[in-house]
Amino acid sequence: MKEKKQNNLLELFKPYVPEAVTSRILEGKGSLPSERSEATIIFIDIRGFTKLADQLDPEKATELINNIFSPIVGIIDKYDGSINKFLGDGLMAIFGTPFSHEDDPERAARAGIEIMKSIEENGKIKIGNKVKSLKARIGINTGLCISGEIGSASRKEFTVIGDTVNLASRLQANAAPGKILIGEKTFQRIKDNYITSPPRKLKIKGKKDLVSVYTLKSEKKRISFLEQKKDSHSPFMGREKELNNLKEALKKSYQSKGQITEISGELGIGKSRLILELTKDSLVKKFNILSANCSSWEESKPYAPLSEIFIKIFGIKFEDDFKEIDKKIENKIKEIDSSLLFASSYFSRLLSSKTKSLEEIMEQSKEESNLLSRVVKKLLFSFSSQKPLLIIIEDVQWIDDASAEFLIQYSKELKEYPILLIYSLRESLKKREFISGSKKIRLLSLKNIESDKLVRLLIKENEIYQLMKDRIISTANGNPLFIEEIIRGIEERRLSADKDKLGNYPEIFANFQIPDTVQSIARARIDLLPVGLKEILYQASVLGRDIEVKLLQKIGNLEVKILLEMMKELQKHEFIEEVKAAPQLKRYFAFTHSLIQEIAYNSLLFKTRRSLHNKIGAAMEEMYLSKIDAKIEELAYHFKNGDDKEKAVFYLNKAGDKAQSLYAFKNAINYYWDSIKILELTELEKEQLAQLSEIYNKLAFSQSIIGERKEAEINLTKALEYCRKIRDKDNESLILMSMGNLYGDMGQWDKAIEYFKGSLLISEEINNLRRNASILKGIGLACLFKGDTSTGYSYLKESINICKEIKALDVYAMALNNIGIYYDMLGRWEKAIEAYKESLSIAKKIKNIIVISNIMNNIGFAYSSLGESKQAIYYLKESVKIANKIGDIYNKGINYIHLGEEYLKKDEFTEVKYYILHAEKIFDELDDKLGLADIYRLKAKLFKKLKKWKDSEIFFKKAIKIYSKFGDKINEGETYYEWGDMSFLKKEVDSARKRLTKSKKILECIGARKHLGEIEKKLNNLKK
Ligand SMILES: Nc1ncnc2c1ncn2[C@@H]1O[C@H](COP(=O)(O)OP(=O)(O)OP(=O)(O)O)[C@@H](O)[C@H]1O
Ligand SMILES: [Mg+2]
Repeated sequence: MKEKKQNNLLELFKPYVPEAVTSRILEGKGSLPSERSEATIIFIDIRGFTKLADQLDPEKATELINNIFSPIVGIIDKYDGSINKFLGDGLMAIFGTPFSHEDDPERAARAGIEIMKSIEENGKIKIGNKVKSLKARIGINTGLCISGEIGSASRKEFTVIGDTVNLASRLQANAAPGKILIGEKTFQRIKDNYITSPPRKLKIKGKKDLVSVYTLKSEKKRISFLEQKKDSHSPFMGREKELNNLKEALKKSYQSKGQITEISGELGIGKSRLILELTKDSLVKKFNILSANCSSWEESKPYAPLSEIFIKIFGIKFEDDFKEIDKKIENKIKEIDSSLLFASSYFSRLLSSKTKSLEEIMEQSKEESNLLSRVVKKLLFSFSSQKPLLIIIEDVQWIDDASAEFLIQYSKELKEYPILLIYSLRESLKKREFISGSKKIRLLSLKNIESDKLVRLLIKENEIYQLMKDRIISTANGNPLFIEEIIRGIEERRLSADKDKLGNYPEIFANFQIPDTVQSIARARIDLLPVGLKEILYQASVLGRDIEVKLLQKIGNLEVKILLEMMKELQKHEFIEEVKAAPQLKRYFAFTHSLIQEIAYNSLLFKTRRSLHNKIGAAMEEMYLSKIDAKIEELAYHFKNGDDKEKAVFYLNKAGDKAQSLYAFKNAINYYWDSIKILELTELEKEQLAQLSEIYNKLAFSQSIIGERKEAEINLTKALEYCRKIRDKDNESLILMSMGNLYGDMGQWDKAIEYFKGSLLISEEINNLRRNASILKGIGLACLFKGDTSTGYSYLKESINICKEIKALDVYAMALNNIGIYYDMLGRWEKAIEAYKESLSIAKKIKNIIVISNIMNNIGFAYSSLGESKQAIYYLKESVKIANKIGDIYNKGINYIHLGEEYLKKDEFTEVKYYILHAEKIFDELDDKLGLADIYRLKAKLFKKLKKWKDSEIFFKKAIKIYSKFGDKINEGETYYEWGDMSFLKKEVDSARKRLTKSKKILECIGARKHLGEIEKKLNNLKK
């Protein structure tokens, strides 16, 4: 009976699995000798499966098998196990024999968990109107087995037998539906990386004693580099005061008094170690630890440490595909703060490298470029309300510009949250002051007494200790890494000498010279390695601090087994260590200290280095084919340092695009420059000219955004030149449009219009409607600002017509907004509001939150000018709501000021004071001087109304000082006017005249006409 069932299942199932698998099952694997070996056996049973399949019509049965059984086979295959038998409703599979891997129990465990998940997802079967849920029971056991071919000559079968197998089957029988039971040995082998229940004693048939079993639950989260290193360390010496300071900061941050601490010091002085010691504090258990490292090759990668942190928050693994990543991001944001969901695409761009084209980015409003960092901030703050955060960023001497800017801003706002931010900084490589307001801990040398203790504990043999301690202590000069290296050197010496001189230490060490820098002692140790090992170490150093074995294997062309043996050897010498909890099954090692990596790398000949970088790049391209986008920066780095110029340009350019898509403009500029430098050294054929023109255009865009306008102008001219050489019309119009935008930004309206028109001409020729619409919108706005309002209006109308035709809603919304500005300028507030509101409804349709908030502001101002205070306040408050939602405290501050102004008009002074107070706090925190000037001006106006002339005067002066320093003419002129008006009220004729004249001069000079009439009137009054 059983036999028949088994064949049924197999028959049913045959068409859906690879031939190779079924044949393995039926025939075993050719002639393999019997052997005793360790294996992990997994039994899976899906109760009722066959019966159910039998009941269903063939089509349904097929579906069932496809959904339930094929994935199981796929999963087992994926982890390189083999299915051995089908049994009733289930199967038995083997990991570890005949082909073994170093981590077979882990593979089996992972397969078990995935299989369970797959059945849970697909196991709901509808029969009639009942839903039946299939559930699996799984048993896993590891141990010695006898394996080989068993049976007669005609029908041989590969199998494993023995107690281990029997117990695995029993475990399965004892598992509750939906659960995985594992035995003791499996538990021991996987416990570091998996979560299990506490042990349970079970009576198993055929066994006298009770056996311990565990329910396997899930994989542990990836353990950070920091945590894995815990047990392999020297005993910790000294640093009481520093550690206490850190603990103090931890306590304070736990009480929502956010703290920032910098730990600086020389190479190997113990920065990382100090942080590690802090993480052993019991209070840390109440924190979420988010740690990230900066590394030299990631210096230009935008948001490098931050993406590491977000990968942890979102639980993203390397094997996740884009869809999976997006899903995880969305789910987590929903859990943390669902009002930020709108920004999930920014995170997708950050973590999965989707990029936007230059044209797409150009159409985004400038403010949007700050959105990413605002949202990231808000998310981190909200996340800290779930559990306090300990954020650790190591080696910020290598931090990229975007992250640096982000952290500097972030640290200003973190004071009210339960967050402790610690960063470490290697002093000799420090380029600039990082976060100025942080508490600084500077690590100095260990005291002699502490060094001595450390040496004593590290050197096991008393005789050597006595002999060497003075020399070690004086040479190492209190640097613990140096001490460790010297002692390792001594150990090498002892080992290599032991055989003949057996224990005669004075003789062995008599002429042992300790090199006087930690670099040279480490180099000496490396030099002692046999040639083959040294070469591996060198090759690995080109990969960086982390060593992915598969990659290393590819560039070295070694067999895995041999390579692993060599790695073990290097591990013994403590040059590298294994990183156990890598997220994939791939093996990872890392250099025990960056020192070793740096020395090995620096020992390579330039030629060798270049060729290795090239090889690594090529190997990565091959290995990460489908994931290449996530490795762009790394590839750019390797090819840049290799000698394949073409690839270097390609990846550097792509890395630039990615940075630009993330609005990390400084990083983008670096990448673009790098690729231009390489390109310009090659022969310039048509293709290179096209590339150059495109890259110069992108470079200029990034530069213009960060305010390097002169440079942008020069580079756009170059882009244009190259582009004209090859007669690329499309790009020519794009570049001309960029120039129009640039001159517009600089307030050179005539020039802007000229370039826009040039761009339009070509764009019309090549019939690019969307671009036409964008350009027309640009010309329109330029005309408005120039004062040519009616021409501006007609351009804007033209743009709108095209937008309607091609349904370009984003451009449409902005053009309409500009029409609103047009009416605003004419003082036709009602019409302005009408246009703004129409624009608002489109912006809402396309869910562009930045545009929405902008327009709300505009509507608020228009109502204010109209004297409809209630409406004005309503819209300003709505805009505050949005600002709160996206963590945009800057706009919140601006809105607060406008609200204050509105309430001032109504003489509601308590409200005014409230908004002043809160806005001031915000701009103080942001250290935004212009924002503060706006507040001083508002304060001055408040005091003016309250007739507190002295105070008013003080704040007018303060505001003007800032405006004039920053060249903000409009505000400077207007403030002079308000100040003059105050003098006018006080009937101080001379001062009034002086200030009003000054105001008139400034405003006239920039063509701002708004107040000129009134000023004139007042001045005339004064004459009388
Ligand atoms: N106070 C200490 N007592 C004992 N050992 C220490 C102490 N401080 C550091 N060490 C050991 O010295 C070595 C170097 O320390 P660590 O890696 O923390 O240096 P670092 O300052 O972070 O260096 P880098 O600038 O390269 O990052 C480590 O192996 C560490 O365990
Ligand atoms: Mg360190």
